[in-house]
Amino acid sequence: MEKSTTALAHPNIAFIKFWGLKDETNRIPSNGSISMNIGCLSTKTTVTPDPNLEKDTLTLNGVSVRGAGLTRVRQFMDRLRQMAEGQSFVHIESENNFPIGAGVASSASGFAALALAGTSALGLELSERELSGLARFGSGSACRSIPGGFVEWVTEPHSGNTYAKSIAAADHWNLVDLIAILSEQHKPVGSEAGMREAASSPLQEARTRDAKRRLDLCRQAILNRDFEALAAVTELDSNMMHAVMMTSEPPLFYWHPHSLAIMKAVKEWQQEGLAVTYTLDAGPNVHVIATQAAMGQALSRLRQFPFVMDVLKGIPAGPARLIKGQS
Ligand code: PMV
Repeated sequence: MEKSTTALAHPNIAFIKFWGLKDETNRIPSNGSISMNIGCLSTKTTVTPDPNLEKDTLTLNGVSVRGAGLTRVRQFMDRLRQMAEGQSFVHIESENNFPIGAGVASSASGFAALALAGTSALGLELSERELSGLARFGSGSACRSIPGGFVEWVTEPHSGNTYAKSIAAADHWNLVDLIAILSEQHKPVGSEAGMREAASSPLQEARTRDAKRRLDLCRQAILNRDFEALAAVTELDSNMMHAVMMTSEPPLFYWHPHSLAIMKAVKEWQQEGLAVTYTLDAGPNVHVIATQAAMGQALSRLRQFPFVMDVLKGIPAGPARLIKGQS
């Protein structure tokens, strides 16, 4: 067996969401997005080329993966092999340090770690932008887990190049992401299938047309460490994405009555002066973003809801990185 390469990447939470592709083949998003890498949570992936293999193999937390999950990873590895000289199939061993099926998207950290470990194992040397652009073919949000800290996914208007870049380092703002876990069930409609329906919602056009304004507000709020401004645009953007989901054909309801209970509680806590805001991805769990000062209160209040199964805690984190492997 040849030398193995290990990479580590964090998931991310988007303040301005990606929902819909304007070019599915080239995976060009309908709008830009902005996120924060979530430290404490990570995926560690080891890729080992093996000339004796006839197909790529995949284990996730020690369990062999088959079916659609394996096909998606093999297709991604085929893309890497097209770019590389070496045509070896590979063993992929991936480990998440957060509960699988806890409804925290592992595809972003998973494909970011695989892009880095996979290219390195096949002898490819890519810039951060190239790596980020590549990771999006595994999962759109994975491109934002390549750079560190607070990250924006941009598409250059003339070249069409699309990649994510850091807009502020992880230590720029010590926010915290409290992820209230409400369900451990896998979502019935994955984000790839869900966002294919986005254009069927009459609201999607308005959402994407207004995206530049929200991106500008969010970027500025981050650069100024202006929590109130960040909260306003983050909630608006999350609500807009869920409005598109709920008005797609067929409609998609990713949130749950308990999600709404937390969203409403967050609005009340804000009235009391607590620096908290909410955002939801394609699932029922609520990400409550808070300042360090508000964290203790927010955490104990979230834990008081009888339906909250667990609260995961993440702080802004650095980029995807190699932790063992080729020089
Ligand atoms: O990474 P994907 O292609 O599964 O899409 C994720 C989309 C959302 O998580 C709902 C929003 C986002 O920008 O992360």
